Amino acid sequence: MQLVSTVVFIVAVGGATVSAGVVNSQDYRSLAGLSSDELDVYARDIDVVGSQPLPPPPTDTTYKLVYDEEHPYVDPQTEDQRGPCPGLNTLASHGYLPRSGVATPAQIINAVIEGFNMEYNLATLVTYGGMLVDGNQLTNLLSIGGISPLTGPSPPLPALAGGLNVHGTFEGDASTTRSDGYLGNNHDLNITLFNQLINTMDSFGNGSYNIHAAAEFRYIRIQDSIARNPVFDFGNPRYATGYAESTFPLAFFSNASEPDLEVGTSADNIRSFFLQHKFPAGFHRRGSPFTAGGTILNTIMAAHPVNPGMNTGTVNSYTPIDFLAGESSINCAIYKKVVNKTLALYPNPTDPLRTALAGNLHNFYQPVKSASCAEVFPYS
Ligand SMILES: *[C@@H]1O[C@H](CO)[C@@H](O)[C@H](O)[C@H]1NC(C)=O
Ligand SMILES: *[C@@H]1O[C@H](CO)[C@@H](O)[C@H](O)[C@H]1NC(C)=O
Ligand SMILES: *[C@@H]1O[C@H](CO)[C@@H](O)[C@H](O)[C@H]1NC(C)=O
Ligand SMILES: *[C@@H]1O[C@H](CO)[C@@H](O)[C@H](O)[C@H]1NC(C)=O
Repeated sequence: MQLVSTVVFIVAVGGATVSAGVVNSQDYRSLAGLSSDELDVYARDIDVVGSQPLPPPPTDTTYKLVYDEEHPYVDPQTEDQRGPCPGLNTLASHGYLPRSGVATPAQIINAVIEGFNMEYNLATLVTYGGMLVDGNQLTNLLSIGGISPLTGPSPPLPALAGGLNVHGTFEGDASTTRSDGYLGNNHDLNITLFNQLINTMDSFGNGSYNIHAAAEFRYIRIQDSIARNPVFDFGNPRYATGYAESTFPLAFFSNASEPDLEVGTSADNIRSFFLQHKFPAGFHRRGSPFTAGGTILNTIMAAHPVNPGMNTGTVNSYTPIDFLAGESSINCAIYKKVVNKTLALYPNPTDPLRTALAGNLHNFYQPVKSASCAEVFPYS
């Protein structure tokens, strides 16, 4: 099955394994095995914020300077969280997000719109897609990197609230510059992969991240994972988010009001975002909201058609999967998948966790809302 331009989702999230193994300090103690009374005590120890309403859509989506005097670059401090997504890392370095790298969903939605002009529904879908599986529902905070004391005590396992670095929840395989979880560090930039990216830009993009370089490198990354990662997962949602991720450096990092697909994004700009998490001098966000669809996505997908699928335990065993699985659209399939994942992480929550989860699932439904995609209420 080939997916078409209705992919309205993303996540420039890389690929691999930060597991519960990092959860070893008292701050992040496991609550597995506690009785529900004890879980209630856990909740009472937290300053419960819970689910909050979505921020309103933006009124200004013009081309404008975003590396301005109010948003200077500052190096991250030791405790500051940075993770698999160069765009979010950059927003934190410039104060569009809290520099700590720990933020509310509303802060993240507003920041990706303000700093990059990501389209509102896409921003909502990706943010809550991450928040539900990697965020702390009670404090309403998500780390853009690893687990942090700032997000508050962890919920009962198997949920982790471990931030976007956690592999297999939101972050996925075959990312542009992060290794697959199975193969290594999934959240820090891998310089070998970055150099492959630059070489591909030289060979196919006249030195830039243009549409041809984007298409080639997406394909190279998929082939590499098929050949080396026995548990390569390019199914739902990673197929959609992996392709969407490949549109971002072109759509968001070019500094033009309307990125030129042939000219693309310069190597200097790519280095600035990927290596320094910094806006290039005088950086302007694009002049219209971007949905991760349209010509950019279609061209990348059409250059080297690949079905959604996964390796089945050995390398080079790539087997197609049915992405839609009976759902009416790609977005609806992603929505249902994240609902299922959330249920697996929170099988039997009690209040106030239950109410927070229900509210966040309802927020997550808003961007996919349609007659043909029914809302589901696992926590009502
Ligand atoms: C970086 O990527 C290369 C090539 O895929 C791989 O051999 C290496 O192990 C990776 N390093 C880390 C730290 O993941
Ligand atoms: C390739 O890039 C150079 C500058 O780096 C530019 O002068 C030239 O016009 C570009 N060629 C094409 C075909 O875009
Ligand atoms: C970005 O565009 C602005 C406005 O055209 C320009 O002043 C600035 O020098 C550009 N920055 C880079 C890094 O190209
Ligand atoms: C979600 O779980 C339900 C019930 O187990 C299942 O029927 C459905 O196929 C799942 N949907 C997705 C997208 O995983």
